[in-house]
Amino acid sequence: MSCLILKLTTVELLLLCFCLQTGILGHENGPDVVTVIVKQGNDVILPCSLSTKERITSKLFDWKKGGQEVFMYDAGIHYNNGRSGQDEQFKGRVSHFPGELKSGNASIIIQNTRMEDGGDYTCDFSRLEPRQIFHIKLVVERTFKDRSGEITGAAAEPYITIVDVTEDGVQLKCQVQGAFPQPKLHWQDSDGNVLPAEEPQVSERGGHYNVILYSTVTSTTTSRFSCVVKQEDISHIVNAEITLPDKLFEDKSCPVAGALIGGWFSGALTVAAVLVLFEVAKYIKKHCKKGKF
Ligand SMILES: *[C@@H]1O[C@H](CO)[C@@H](O)[C@H](O)[C@H]1NC(C)=O
Repeated sequence: MSCLILKLTTVELLLLCFCLQTGILGHENGPDVVTVIVKQGNDVILPCSLSTKERITSKLFDWKKGGQEVFMYDAGIHYNNGRSGQDEQFKGRVSHFPGELKSGNASIIIQNTRMEDGGDYTCDFSRLEPRQIFHIKLVVERTFKDRSGEITGAAAEPYITIVDVTEDGVQLKCQVQGAFPQPKLHWQDSDGNVLPAEEPQVSERGGHYNVILYSTVTSTTTSRFSCVVKQEDISHIVNAEITLPDKLFEDKSCPVAGALIGGWFSGALTVAAVLVLFEVAKYIKKHCKKGKF
């Protein structure tokens, strides 16, 4: 019995899906909307064409996004040849296709899309009889990249130091200074796996954030670790890497060596010095095996 109910429900669902897809249920939720997806920073064409393909060279069409004026064309006069009133956000980034006007095509191209360009647009032929309005939804997909040269407040490459070498592993410190908005940090191995870390230590001064994130890494398949800094709001990502000598993870049977290396490392060493310390570690280990420590 329960099987039968389930079957009926499935059939009904399928029917419903079919009806929705083919539009049998009509557009009770509003007009037809064309959705266009673009990656942040790329150019995008918002389509708008009269089905009649009639010449619109001397007609009026107006592109809007909510209350914002995106692009208005009126018989050859538009925002790129003297007409005023265009919203600041779109200035210098929007144009139409003059060669397409003869076939009723009022599509526009938006260059270098920004996150705030995403939303609902209308392409309105307000003087046509009957009036024609087209609805286009633009989805801008966030694209993270290094924007430190481009946006003030975008975090610079973080600073990595080795704090300590203990039985538990190698304690790494990642530090970012003077970033706004507040960045999020994480440690990952070279396979991209996010590593467990302590709670970040955040301090703020003059609207700029300093963040420190500690993580104790252990020997995995890799010895290359990176600290990744992200600022979601400005789509900024930057990272720094450190490659630890395998020896650091070996030979826990020689605690003196570990302590020595640890003590040495905690003296605020730069990443570049790691290779030198690698030699030190080797030396200590060699002597350790000989029983000198
Ligand atoms: C309208 O013009 C644009 C830009 O040239 C083009 O990509 C689009 O395919 C045209 N649309 C139609 C329906 O011809």
